[in-house]
Amino acid sequence: MDNKLGHRGRVLWFSGLSGSGKSTLSNALDKRLYDLGIRTYLLDGDNIRQGLNRDLGFSKADRTENIRRVAEVARLFLETGMIVIVAFISPYQIDRQLAREVIGTDDFLEIYVRCSLEECERRDPKGLYAKARSGEIPNFTGVSDPYEIPQNPDIIVSTEEESVEDGVERILTELKARNLIK
Ligand code: PPS
Repeated sequence: MDNKLGHRGRVLWFSGLSGSGKSTLSNALDKRLYDLGIRTYLLDGDNIRQGLNRDLGFSKADRTENIRRVAEVARLFLETGMIVIVAFISPYQIDRQLAREVIGTDDFLEIYVRCSLEECERRDPKGLYAKARSGEIPNFTGVSDPYEIPQNPDIIVSTEEESVEDGVERILTELKARNLIK
């Protein structure tokens, strides 16, 4: 979608396990794009699950509805010409596919934040894996709920192998190669 902002809008959809680095990466990318004068909007659990989607939990149906609503909101922001950064676990292939269809294949870039379950569990930044293992949190992604690995993502960032800065630079390089930013 061309716009008056000097760059094309796009939805950059980050998917990955809890603790994989989605928030860190997407926030760092958001900041870099802002510094480049590019208008962005970041959608993540912090601003969606506490407000718009606070009625939703983590059953399969609720996760599907979470992602469906996020995709619709992302599409609205996309129409303004912004680069929309979306960071949710989005564990199901079918839900990511539906999001791609809502947003439009040409405007949707899937970024898989790859990190092994072992490493996510080792990091356990919020102590949730420990609670999931003890049974305190049911249906926890990777432990007692599935995560379907993206089969054909546009970009893979491996947070066990590359730094946040390197991951962000690689995403920026991809965006430049696709003429999304100068
Ligand atoms: S989903 O699957 O896309 O609908 O999940 P998402 O909206 O991204 O929310 C993930 C964050 O919610 C916290 N949390 C859980 N995650 C996974 N499974 C269960 N059961 C669960 N319960 C709470 C967790 O902090 C996730 O945050 P991140 O940022 O991914 O670590």
